[in-house]
Amino acid sequence: MKLRTRLIISFITVITLPVIMTGVLTWGIAQYQIGVIEKTYGSSGTQYKSFSHSLQVLGKMPEVQRFMLHTGIAIVLILMLTAILLIFWIYGGIISPINKLQEAAKNVKEGNLNFELKAEKDDEMGQLIQTFEEMRLRLKDNAEEKLRSDKESKELISNISHDLKTPITAIKGYVEGIRDGVADTPEKMDKYIGTIYNKANEMDMLINELTLYSKIDTNRIPYNFAPIPVNAYFDDCAEDLAMELDSKNVEFGYFNYVDVGQKIIADPEQLKRVINNIVGNSLKYMERERGLINLRVKDVGDFIQVELEDNGKGIAAKDLANIFDRFYRTDASRNSSKGGSGIGLSIVKKIIEDHGGKIWATSKEGTGTVMYFVIRKYQEVPINE
Ligand SMILES: Nc1ncnc2c1ncn2[C@@H]1O[C@H](COP(=O)(O)OP(=O)(O)OP(=O)(O)O)[C@@H](O)[C@H]1O
Ligand SMILES: [Mg+2]
Repeated sequence: MKLRTRLIISFITVITLPVIMTGVLTWGIAQYQIGVIEKTYGSSGTQYKSFSHSLQVLGKMPEVQRFMLHTGIAIVLILMLTAILLIFWIYGGIISPINKLQEAAKNVKEGNLNFELKAEKDDEMGQLIQTFEEMRLRLKDNAEEKLRSDKESKELISNISHDLKTPITAIKGYVEGIRDGVADTPEKMDKYIGTIYNKANEMDMLINELTLYSKIDTNRIPYNFAPIPVNAYFDDCAEDLAMELDSKNVEFGYFNYVDVGQKIIADPEQLKRVINNIVGNSLKYMERERGLINLRVKDVGDFIQVELEDNGKGIAAKDLANIFDRFYRTDASRNSSKGGSGIGLSIVKKIIEDHGGKIWATSKEGTGTVMYFVIRKYQEVPINE
């Protein structure tokens, strides 16, 4: 039943019930009055007096007649007026928010979430509108998230196809060269086979990186978190880096400002992956005769801050905010001989965030880049005996 019909029925009931009751009451009073009249003027011989008869008898009494008529009319008028006012009041308070909600629901059904619902009052309907508005915002967020993830998936497919196609094209070219007899000397053959091997390796690395990324992204890599002594861990790290960088003619500096005994809570293997990835980038984007990489480890309260600084080509300010996004490379053409697929730093970010830490970077083109990350300290809670 429509709200309007319900209100009309209520209206009629509110009016008619009191009118009927007044009628019954009048009849009762009439019966009583007739009794009095008959006692005074003698019995008419009838026991039961009909309503019209009662009124007729009462009608013989002008003051009663007038009083009843006026009171009846006044009661009916007051009732009608009150009912009309109440109905308009209730109807106005419900129907306008319902119309708003109906319009909003229609929009949602048609997939349009770009509207705003404002509750004008803080009553039940206002709260319903508010809840609907919160639901709309939630739906909008989800829809946007889905669009983003669809776009990312498309980008992922196109990037993977591109990154896999490049080495495959090269491999095909070299194999055709061998088949056609272009590699006619042992040196040439060695060169061709060497290149095929390197290209196959590139593909292997890319596939491994993608597998790792998808595992990390869907939380399929179990972390082995443990309390790690900061100094011992980073001293080891620095030793490995010093050897590796020395062989690449890159100067290396290690500065540790953390007190002995401090520990962090981390997965040592994944943390090593983070450092290797950052250093790998520094080397890849160095473009300098004499490279320099500094590793600094600092105590910053509840966290240990690690800084990796290089004197490489740097990152433009417009790119800096995006380098941690998956597949983001400052060389958008993806044709550079350098660089991979742009997954490295997104893996690094995910690992650091899974450690409850944060990562960020500062950079100046032509001067170099500093990568910072923080990892929470391990606090030993003394057990009271
Ligand atoms: N130290 C750095 N110096 C200059 N540019 C950097 C440095 N580190 C990162 N970048 C820029 O940020 C981009 C993203 O880095 P990321 O490690 O995610 O991807 P990648 O190195 O291109 O590929 P991948 O790591 O997957 O092999 C790089 O393409 C590069 O342009
Ligand atoms: Mg990288």
